[in-house]
Amino acid sequence: MSTAISIQQLSKRFGKTQALNNLTFDVEDGDIFGFLGPNGAGKTTTMRILATLLRPDSGRASILGHDVILNASAVRPIIGYMPDITGAYRDMIVSEYLEFFSAAYRFSLADRSRFV
Ligand SMILES: Nc1ncnc2c1ncn2[C@@H]1O[C@H](COP(=O)(O)OP(=O)(O)OP(=O)(O)O)[C@@H](O)[C@H]1O
Ligand SMILES: [Mg+2]
Repeated sequence: MSTAISIQQLSKRFGKTQALNNLTFDVEDGDIFGFLGPNGAGKTTTMRILATLLRPDSGRASILGHDVILNASAVRPIIGYMPDITGAYRDMIVSEYLEFFSAAYRFSLADRSRFV
């Protein structure tokens, strides 16, 4: 078994709030991993760091060996992230939404027009 996600001594502070304090754990390849904790424990903060959307103050995290800070462009194509609250653009129609996300995932124009 190899390591899918590696988190080492990850810390993140928002002003006076210590959201993460030296968080360390690994998730093995093939594991289904439940990440539980009370409100404000730092779950979303951790996920946002793994999804390359937020920089930690210190510590390291990697996905399939790619550092989420140093090599975000290698991480982004190999992850999927479904947040608990999605930001929907209310004035977008469904086909525009599909087009938007297809473009974000760098599907070519020809491929996009096949499934949008
Ligand atoms: N952008 C931000 N600015 C200021 N404080 C923040 C920010 N993001 C998170 N926090 C604070 O960091 C702490 C951890 O928040 P986080 O959202 O990671 O917790 P959570 O475990 O996902 O909680 P929940 O179960 O409510 O979703 C909380 O005290 C939160 O208020
Ligand atoms: Mg959360």
